[in-house]
Amino acid sequence: MIVAHELVKEFRIPERGPGLAGSVSTLFTRRHRIVRAVDEVSFEIPAGSRTAYIGANGAGKSTTIKMLTGIMTPTSGYCRVRGIEPYRDRQRNARSIGVVFGQRSQLWWDLSVPDSFRILRRIYDIPAPVYDRNLALYRELLDIDALGTTPVRQLSLGQRMRAEIAASLLHDPAVVFWDEPTIGLDMVLKEAVRELVLRAHHDLGTTVVLTSHDIADIAAICDSALVVDRGRVVHQGTIQDLLRTADRRSVLFDHREPLAAEAVCALVEAQLPGVRAVPADGGRVQVDYPAEEFTSRQVLAFLLDRFDLVDCYAPEPDLEDVLRQIYGRSTATAPAEVSGA
Ligand SMILES: Nc1ncnc2c1ncn2[C@@H]1O[C@H](COP(=O)(O)OP(=O)(O)O)[C@@H](O)[C@H]1O
Ligand SMILES: [Mg+2]
Repeated sequence: MIVAHELVKEFRIPERGPGLAGSVSTLFTRRHRIVRAVDEVSFEIPAGSRTAYIGANGAGKSTTIKMLTGIMTPTSGYCRVRGIEPYRDRQRNARSIGVVFGQRSQLWWDLSVPDSFRILRRIYDIPAPVYDRNLALYRELLDIDALGTTPVRQLSLGQRMRAEIAASLLHDPAVVFWDEPTIGLDMVLKEAVRELVLRAHHDLGTTVVLTSHDIADIAAICDSALVVDRGRVVHQGTIQDLLRTADRRSVLFDHREPLAAEAVCALVEAQLPGVRAVPADGGRVQVDYPAEEFTSRQVLAFLLDRFDLVDCYAPEPDLEDVLRQIYGRSTATAPAEVSGA
């Protein structure tokens, strides 16, 4: 339902020589370099999924979302949202999507939040029961009335984000694109925002595409992940699939004496090269092993053979660690430069 096919976005950036002479000369020589922010990205996001669009800073997430919402036109390739190419038919696309850009307001700067909502109500032709139901929800969860009649430009970041989030859902869109929607929000409001979007998903089947620096947002809201690195898709699947790509796994265990935890650790590390063992809380031992070299079965068999295990469990890999591992693999964070001059 959301499709990107070999989607490319390049930006031309004027190249300057040093100093004033340099900036004057760019007028004449028109030297520029081309930065490929999105590099032949292809993906399909099924209707009704809650997808985290994940990538390091500068990976091309916002640029892709701008194309999906019709704000930017691709350099080549295409994307479609519910059969519409957004940049060709921006109006029609807008009816079925809700958008939040944390870095860039979607609201009218000089209007108050209630006035903005009244305009949105008319633009989207929102039926009274839908409008009333949603407003009641925003009163309950986002304390939207507290924003009063202050113009948007005078709101704090957190206040503005509450209004942006509410505005993006007001017309019951089929798809929401939320790019960094929780910046400036405290824990209580983050929880409220998560609940809002999960309710929309549950009650209306809303498709959610989310970028966030907050891993907890992703874990709470999303079931799927699309990971981009330097403009390219490097992983697509469920969050569970993503966790399975962890290159290090852990086992925690309790054992009966005689050996103290420190001695157990030394023994494990000596016998299993590449494995790290550290004492954990309550006399337990935590063993971290490279998933490429050992299976959990091998590690467990070793532990059972050597020690008198009382209890043991394998915690799920940490999403943050897995992402750090993916970003760490890329040699540079800057996008590919395609050509000079
Ligand atoms: N309007 C623009 N003009 C020039 N370069 C841009 C523009 N927008 C984004 N870029 C560049 O494209 C790359 C990807 O940016 P962006 O899509 O914002 O990444 P992300 O949202 O993943 O952090 C970055 O190197 C950024 O500097
Ligand atoms: Mg961004």
